[in-house]
Amino acid sequence: MVKDISLRLIAWHRRHGRHDLPWQNTTDPYRVWLSEIMLQQTQVATVIPYYLRFLERFPRLADLAAAPVEEVMALWSGLGYYARARNLHACARAVMTRHGGRFPHDPDVIAELPGIGRSTANSIATFCFGAHAPILDGNVKRVLCRACGIEGQPASSAVDKRLWALATELMPARQGAVYNQAQMDLGAMVCTRTRPRCEACPLNDICVARASGRTAELPTPKPRREIPLRHTTLLVLQDGARVLLETRPPSGIWGGLLSLPELPQGADAETWAEQRFGCRVIAVTCPRSGSPGTQSAPLPTFTHGFSHFRLHIAPLLLRVKPHHCAMEPGRQWLELAATEGAALPAPIRTILDALQASGSRPLLSRKR
Ligand code: ADE
Repeated sequence: MVKDISLRLIAWHRRHGRHDLPWQNTTDPYRVWLSEIMLQQTQVATVIPYYLRFLERFPRLADLAAAPVEEVMALWSGLGYYARARNLHACARAVMTRHGGRFPHDPDVIAELPGIGRSTANSIATFCFGAHAPILDGNVKRVLCRACGIEGQPASSAVDKRLWALATELMPARQGAVYNQAQMDLGAMVCTRTRPRCEACPLNDICVARASGRTAELPTPKPRREIPLRHTTLLVLQDGARVLLETRPPSGIWGGLLSLPELPQGADAETWAEQRFGCRVIAVTCPRSGSPGTQSAPLPTFTHGFSHFRLHIAPLLLRVKPHHCAMEPGRQWLELAATEGAALPAPIRTILDALQASGSRPLLSRKR
Protein backbone atom coordinates (compact mmCIF):
# COMPACT_ATOMS: atom_id res chain seq x y z
CA MET A 1 0.00 0.00 0.00
CA VAL A 2 2.74 2.44 0.98
CA LYS A 3 4.65 1.76 -2.21
CA ASP A 4 1.43 2.13 -4.10
CA ILE A 5 0.98 5.75 -2.93
CA SER A 6 4.16 6.93 -4.62
CA LEU A 7 3.37 4.99 -7.81
CA ARG A 8 -0.10 6.49 -7.94
CA LEU A 9 1.22 10.02 -7.44
CA ILE A 10 3.90 9.61 -10.08
CA ALA A 11 1.33 8.30 -12.58
CA TRP A 12 -1.08 11.10 -11.70
CA HIS A 13 1.64 13.71 -12.13
CA ARG A 14 2.47 12.53 -15.62
CA ARG A 15 -1.03 13.39 -16.80
CA HIS A 16 -2.19 16.12 -14.46
CA GLY A 17 0.83 17.70 -12.78
CA ARG A 18 2.57 20.96 -13.64
CA HIS A 19 5.41 20.57 -16.11
CA ASP A 20 6.08 24.01 -17.49
CA LEU A 21 6.69 26.27 -14.53
CA PRO A 22 9.67 28.56 -15.18
CA TRP A 23 11.85 26.78 -12.60
CA GLN A 24 11.14 23.33 -13.97
CA ASN A 25 13.05 21.44 -16.64
CA THR A 26 16.33 22.57 -15.16
CA THR A 27 18.71 21.03 -12.66
CA ASP A 28 20.50 24.32 -12.01
CA PRO A 29 20.53 24.56 -8.21
CA TYR A 30 20.61 28.36 -8.30
CA ARG A 31 17.29 28.48 -10.16
CA VAL A 32 15.69 25.70 -8.14
CA TRP A 33 16.81 27.19 -4.83
CA LEU A 34 15.56 30.67 -5.81
CA SER A 35 12.15 29.27 -6.75
CA GLU A 36 11.84 27.15 -3.61
CA ILE A 37 12.55 30.15 -1.36
CA MET A 38 10.07 32.34 -3.23
CA LEU A 39 7.42 29.61 -3.14
CA GLN A 40 7.52 29.36 0.66
CA GLN A 41 4.20 30.85 1.83
CA THR A 42 3.57 32.32 -1.63
CA GLN A 43 1.47 31.13 -4.54
CA VAL A 44 2.94 30.12 -7.88
CA ALA A 45 1.13 32.87 -9.82
CA THR A 46 2.53 35.56 -7.50
CA VAL A 47 6.04 34.14 -7.63
CA ILE A 48 6.46 33.85 -11.41
CA PRO A 49 7.03 37.56 -12.26
CA TYR A 50 9.39 38.00 -9.28
CA TYR A 51 11.33 34.91 -10.23
CA LEU A 52 11.76 36.10 -13.81
CA ARG A 53 12.82 39.59 -12.70
CA PHE A 54 15.37 38.15 -10.26
CA LEU A 55 16.93 35.97 -12.94
CA GLU A 56 17.07 38.84 -15.36
CA ARG A 57 18.87 41.03 -12.85
CA PHE A 58 20.94 38.25 -11.26
CA PRO A 59 21.47 35.59 -13.92
CA ARG A 60 23.94 33.67 -11.78
CA LEU A 61 24.41 33.05 -8.09
CA ALA A 62 27.63 35.11 -8.17
CA ASP A 63 25.66 38.14 -9.43
CA LEU A 64 23.25 37.87 -6.51
CA ALA A 65 26.09 37.47 -4.01
CA ALA A 66 27.88 40.53 -5.39
CA ALA A 67 24.83 42.80 -5.20
CA PRO A 68 24.17 45.09 -2.24
CA VAL A 69 21.46 43.67 0.03
CA GLU A 70 19.38 46.84 -0.53
CA GLU A 71 19.04 45.97 -4.20
CA VAL A 72 17.87 42.46 -3.34
CA MET A 73 15.32 43.89 -0.90
CA ALA A 74 14.10 46.30 -3.59
CA LEU A 75 13.55 43.48 -6.08
CA TRP A 76 11.76 41.44 -3.40
CA SER A 77 9.55 44.38 -2.52
CA GLY A 78 5.87 43.35 -2.50
CA LEU A 79 6.52 39.61 -2.10
CA GLY A 80 6.33 39.73 1.73
CA TYR A 81 8.13 37.73 4.45
CA TYR A 82 11.24 39.83 3.91
CA ALA A 83 13.51 37.68 6.09
CA ARG A 84 13.52 35.37 3.07
CA ALA A 85 15.20 38.05 0.96
CA ARG A 86 17.85 38.81 3.56
CA ASN A 87 18.56 35.09 3.98
CA LEU A 88 18.62 34.63 0.21
CA HIS A 89 21.39 37.17 -0.08
CA ALA A 90 23.27 35.72 2.91
CA CYS A 91 22.94 32.24 1.41
CA ALA A 92 24.31 33.35 -1.97
CA ARG A 93 27.33 34.82 -0.18
CA ALA A 94 27.73 31.68 1.95
CA VAL A 95 27.74 29.46 -1.14
CA MET A 96 30.44 31.71 -2.64
CA THR A 97 32.65 31.78 0.44
CA ARG A 98 32.05 28.34 1.97
CA HIS A 99 31.57 26.28 -1.17
CA GLY A 100 33.50 28.11 -3.89
CA GLY A 101 30.33 29.27 -5.64
CA ARG A 102 28.87 25.78 -6.16
CA PHE A 103 25.84 24.50 -4.30
CA PRO A 104 26.72 21.49 -2.13
CA HIS A 105 25.00 18.23 -3.15
CA ASP A 106 24.45 16.69 0.28
CA PRO A 107 21.01 17.71 1.64
CA ASP A 108 22.37 17.91 5.19
CA VAL A 109 25.04 20.38 4.05
CA ILE A 110 22.51 22.38 2.01
CA ALA A 111 20.33 22.61 5.13
CA GLU A 112 23.14 24.42 6.97
CA LEU A 113 22.88 27.39 4.61
CA PRO A 114 20.95 30.51 5.69
CA GLY A 115 17.19 30.33 5.16
CA ILE A 116 17.12 26.69 4.04
CA GLY A 117 15.23 24.18 6.16
CA ARG A 118 15.26 20.43 5.87
CA SER A 119 12.39 20.17 3.38
CA THR A 120 13.76 22.88 1.06
CA ALA A 121 17.24 21.31 1.21
CA ASN A 122 15.74 17.97 0.24
CA SER A 123 13.76 19.51 -2.63
CA ILE A 124 16.91 21.09 -4.05
CA ALA A 125 18.88 17.87 -3.63
CA THR A 126 16.22 15.73 -5.36
CA PHE A 127 15.48 18.18 -8.18
CA CYS A 128 19.12 18.97 -8.93
CA PHE A 129 21.27 16.09 -7.79
CA GLY A 130 18.96 13.06 -7.87
CA ALA A 131 19.08 12.63 -4.10
CA HIS A 132 16.75 10.27 -2.31
CA ALA A 133 15.30 12.77 0.14
CA PRO A 134 11.69 13.31 1.26
CA ILE A 135 10.04 16.71 1.47
CA LEU A 136 7.53 17.92 4.01
CA ASP A 137 6.16 21.37 3.26
CA GLY A 138 2.65 22.55 4.12
CA ASN A 139 1.11 20.96 1.03
CA VAL A 140 2.72 17.59 1.67
CA LYS A 141 1.71 17.63 5.33
CA ARG A 142 -1.89 18.19 4.32
CA VAL A 143 -1.85 15.33 1.80
CA LEU A 144 -0.27 12.91 4.30
CA CYS A 145 -2.49 13.88 7.23
CA ARG A 146 -5.61 13.36 5.14
CA ALA A 147 -4.56 10.28 3.18
CA CYS A 148 -3.22 8.47 6.26
CA GLY A 149 -5.62 9.95 8.83
CA ILE A 150 -2.96 11.53 11.01
CA GLU A 151 -4.46 13.42 13.92
CA GLY A 152 -2.88 16.17 15.98
CA GLN A 153 -1.31 19.44 15.00
CA PRO A 154 1.39 19.06 12.34
CA ALA A 155 3.45 21.76 14.10
CA SER A 156 3.73 19.70 17.29
CA SER A 157 6.99 17.83 17.58
CA ALA A 158 5.31 14.41 17.97
CA VAL A 159 3.25 14.81 14.78
CA ASP A 160 6.15 16.41 12.93
CA LYS A 161 8.32 13.41 13.78
CA ARG A 162 5.63 11.02 12.67
CA LEU A 163 5.13 12.86 9.40
CA TRP A 164 8.86 12.84 8.62
CA ALA A 165 8.97 9.11 9.31
CA LEU A 166 6.01 8.55 7.01
CA ALA A 167 7.43 10.82 4.29
CA THR A 168 10.69 8.88 4.45
CA GLU A 169 8.89 5.56 4.24
CA LEU A 170 6.83 6.67 1.24
CA MET A 171 9.83 7.98 -0.69
CA PRO A 172 10.27 5.76 -3.76
CA ALA A 173 13.67 4.35 -4.69
CA ARG A 174 13.43 5.91 -8.13
CA GLN A 175 11.92 9.07 -9.57
CA GLY A 176 12.28 10.98 -6.33
CA ALA A 177 12.13 14.34 -8.12
CA VAL A 178 8.89 13.50 -9.95
CA TYR A 179 7.38 12.13 -6.76
CA ASN A 180 8.27 15.25 -4.76
CA GLN A 181 6.88 17.52 -7.45
CA ALA A 182 3.74 15.35 -7.62
CA GLN A 183 3.11 15.79 -3.91
CA MET A 184 3.47 19.56 -4.17
CA ASP A 185 1.16 19.68 -7.17
CA LEU A 186 -1.46 17.43 -5.60
CA GLY A 187 -1.49 19.63 -2.48
CA ALA A 188 -1.72 22.83 -4.51
CA MET A 189 -4.20 21.68 -7.16
CA VAL A 190 -6.38 18.90 -5.71
CA CYS A 191 -5.90 18.34 -1.98
CA THR A 192 -6.40 22.02 -1.26
CA ARG A 193 -6.96 23.41 2.22
CA THR A 194 -10.58 24.29 1.58
CA ARG A 195 -12.86 22.47 -0.84
CA PRO A 196 -10.49 19.70 -1.93
CA ARG A 197 -11.31 18.14 -5.30
CA CYS A 198 -11.47 14.58 -3.98
CA GLU A 199 -13.12 13.31 -7.15
CA ALA A 200 -9.88 14.13 -9.05
CA CYS A 201 -7.52 12.65 -6.45
CA PRO A 202 -5.52 9.51 -7.25
CA LEU A 203 -5.67 8.53 -3.57
CA ASN A 204 -9.40 9.00 -3.11
CA ASP A 205 -10.20 5.31 -2.62
CA ILE A 206 -7.65 4.89 0.18
CA CYS A 207 -7.91 8.33 1.80
CA VAL A 208 -8.78 8.00 5.50
CA ALA A 209 -10.06 11.58 5.79
CA ARG A 210 -12.39 11.13 2.82
CA ALA A 211 -13.70 7.77 4.00
CA SER A 212 -14.57 9.22 7.38
CA GLY A 213 -15.83 12.59 6.07
CA ARG A 214 -13.06 14.49 7.85
CA THR A 215 -11.29 16.38 5.06
CA ALA A 216 -12.29 19.60 6.81
CA GLU A 217 -10.83 18.42 10.13
CA LEU A 218 -7.52 17.07 8.86
CA PRO A 219 -4.86 18.26 9.23
CA THR A 220 -5.92 19.27 12.74
CA PRO A 221 -6.11 23.07 12.61
CA LYS A 222 -4.19 25.25 15.02
CA PRO A 223 -6.41 26.46 17.86
CA ARG A 224 -8.00 29.67 16.68
CA ARG A 225 -6.40 32.58 18.38
CA GLU A 226 -7.85 36.01 18.01
CA ILE A 227 -5.68 37.85 15.50
CA PRO A 228 -4.77 41.12 17.22
CA LEU A 229 -5.38 44.42 15.48
CA ARG A 230 -2.69 47.05 15.89
CA HIS A 231 -2.83 50.66 14.84
CA THR A 232 -0.23 52.94 13.38
CA THR A 233 -0.08 56.44 11.99
CA LEU A 234 2.40 56.86 9.16
CA LEU A 235 3.66 60.32 8.31
CA VAL A 236 3.74 61.31 4.68
CA LEU A 237 6.14 64.24 4.82
CA GLN A 238 5.84 65.69 1.34
CA ASP A 239 8.18 68.33 0.00
CA GLY A 240 6.98 69.08 -3.52
CA ALA A 241 7.29 65.91 -5.54
CA ARG A 242 9.24 63.95 -2.94
CA VAL A 243 8.54 62.24 0.36
CA LEU A 244 10.70 61.31 3.32
CA LEU A 245 11.38 57.61 3.87
CA GLU A 246 13.27 55.73 6.55
CA THR A 247 14.95 52.32 6.42
CA ARG A 248 13.28 49.97 8.91
CA PRO A 249 15.44 48.16 11.44
CA PRO A 250 16.73 44.80 10.14
CA SER A 251 14.33 42.69 12.20
CA GLY A 252 10.60 43.11 12.77
CA ILE A 253 8.00 43.99 10.18
CA TRP A 254 9.31 45.18 6.83
CA GLY A 255 12.84 44.61 8.20
CA GLY A 256 15.44 46.44 6.09
CA LEU A 257 12.84 47.98 3.77
CA LEU A 258 12.07 51.65 3.22
CA SER A 259 8.97 52.91 4.98
CA LEU A 260 7.16 56.08 5.92
CA PRO A 261 8.09 57.33 9.41
CA GLU A 262 5.78 56.16 12.17
CA LEU A 263 4.22 58.74 14.47
CA PRO A 264 4.71 57.58 18.06
CA GLN A 265 1.47 57.18 19.99
CA GLY A 266 0.32 60.40 21.55
CA ALA A 267 2.87 62.55 19.70
CA ASP A 268 1.77 65.66 17.87
CA ALA A 269 2.48 65.21 14.16
CA GLU A 270 3.68 68.73 13.49
CA THR A 271 5.96 68.88 16.51
CA TRP A 272 7.35 65.47 15.62
CA ALA A 273 7.98 66.51 11.99
CA GLU A 274 9.78 69.61 13.21
CA GLN A 275 11.84 68.11 16.01
CA ARG A 276 12.71 64.76 14.57
CA PHE A 277 13.02 65.58 10.89
CA GLY A 278 13.71 69.34 10.79
CA CYS A 279 10.63 69.87 8.65
CA ARG A 280 8.44 72.98 8.93
CA VAL A 281 4.82 72.22 8.11
CA ILE A 282 3.13 74.31 5.44
CA ALA A 283 -0.55 75.08 5.94
CA VAL A 284 -2.87 73.20 3.65
CA THR A 285 -6.58 73.15 3.03
CA CYS A 286 -8.37 69.87 2.97
CA PRO A 287 -11.08 70.11 0.30
CA ARG A 288 -12.80 66.91 1.42
CA SER A 289 -13.47 68.08 4.93
CA GLY A 290 -13.51 71.69 3.78
CA SER A 291 -11.56 72.81 6.79
CA PRO A 292 -9.34 75.72 5.89
CA GLY A 293 -5.81 76.12 7.09
CA THR A 294 -5.46 72.53 8.22
CA GLN A 295 -1.88 71.60 8.99
CA SER A 296 -2.22 67.96 8.10
CA ALA A 297 -4.61 65.86 6.09
CA PRO A 298 -5.57 62.25 6.71
CA LEU A 299 -5.35 59.98 3.68
CA PRO A 300 -7.65 56.95 3.37
CA THR A 301 -6.98 54.37 6.07
CA PHE A 302 -6.73 50.63 5.43
CA THR A 303 -5.83 47.38 7.14
CA HIS A 304 -2.93 45.15 6.13
CA GLY A 305 -2.65 41.52 7.22
CA PHE A 306 0.59 40.06 8.59
CA SER A 307 1.05 36.46 9.67
CA HIS A 308 0.37 37.16 13.35
CA PHE A 309 -1.59 40.39 13.44
CA ARG A 310 -3.42 42.93 11.36
CA LEU A 311 -2.27 46.49 11.10
CA HIS A 312 -4.65 49.40 10.73
CA ILE A 313 -2.70 52.05 8.86
CA ALA A 314 -3.66 55.72 9.03
CA PRO A 315 -1.45 57.76 6.70
CA LEU A 316 -1.23 61.45 7.58
CA LEU A 317 -0.11 63.90 4.92
CA LEU A 318 1.95 66.90 5.93
CA ARG A 319 3.25 69.31 3.33
CA VAL A 320 6.62 70.40 4.59
CA LYS A 321 9.71 72.45 3.88
CA PRO A 322 12.84 70.94 5.35
CA HIS A 323 14.66 73.87 6.99
CA HIS A 324 17.66 72.07 8.23
CA CYS A 325 19.12 68.83 7.16
CA ALA A 326 18.20 66.13 9.67
CA MET A 327 19.25 63.39 7.32
CA GLU A 328 20.48 60.65 9.57
CA PRO A 329 21.72 57.45 7.93
CA GLY A 330 18.81 55.43 6.59
CA ARG A 331 16.69 58.48 5.76
CA GLN A 332 16.10 59.62 2.25
CA TRP A 333 13.87 61.86 0.16
CA LEU A 334 12.34 59.79 -2.59
CA GLU A 335 10.78 61.28 -5.72
CA LEU A 336 7.19 60.05 -6.02
CA ALA A 337 7.87 59.31 -9.67
CA ALA A 338 10.79 57.05 -8.74
CA THR A 339 9.17 54.55 -6.38
CA GLU A 340 9.31 51.69 -8.84
CA GLY A 341 12.82 50.47 -8.07
CA ALA A 342 12.66 51.27 -4.35
CA ALA A 343 12.57 48.64 -1.58
CA LEU A 344 9.02 49.42 -0.47
CA PRO A 345 6.57 47.06 1.23
CA ALA A 346 3.29 46.75 -0.69
CA PRO A 347 1.17 48.95 1.65
CA ILE A 348 3.68 51.81 1.49
CA ARG A 349 3.76 51.56 -2.27
CA THR A 350 -0.04 51.73 -2.29
CA ILE A 351 0.01 54.97 -0.28
CA LEU A 352 2.67 56.58 -2.45
CA ASP A 353 1.00 55.50 -5.70
CA ALA A 354 -2.28 57.00 -4.50
CA LEU A 355 -0.50 60.19 -3.55
CA GLN A 356 1.18 60.44 -6.90
CA ALA A 357 -2.09 59.74 -8.71
CA SER A 358 -3.74 62.51 -6.69
CA GLY A 359 -1.11 64.94 -8.02
CA SER A 360 -3.15 65.33 -11.20
CA ARG A 361 -6.40 65.99 -9.31
CA PRO A 362 -5.16 67.82 -6.25
CA LEU A 363 -6.15 66.07 -3.05
CA LEU A 364 -5.09 69.13 -1.15
CA SER A 365 -4.79 72.66 -2.26
CA ARG A 366 -1.94 74.58 -0.84
CA LYS A 367 -2.51 77.70 1.20
CA ARG A 368 0.55 79.61 2.26
N1 ADE B 1 5.90 24.92 -3.91
C1 ADE B 1 7.12 24.69 -3.38
N2 ADE B 1 7.95 24.20 -4.31
C2 ADE B 1 7.25 24.12 -5.46
C3 ADE B 1 7.57 23.72 -6.78
N3 ADE B 1 8.78 23.27 -7.08
N4 ADE B 1 6.61 23.78 -7.71
C4 ADE B 1 5.38 24.23 -7.38
N5 ADE B 1 5.04 24.63 -6.17
C5 ADE B 1 5.96 24.59 -5.21
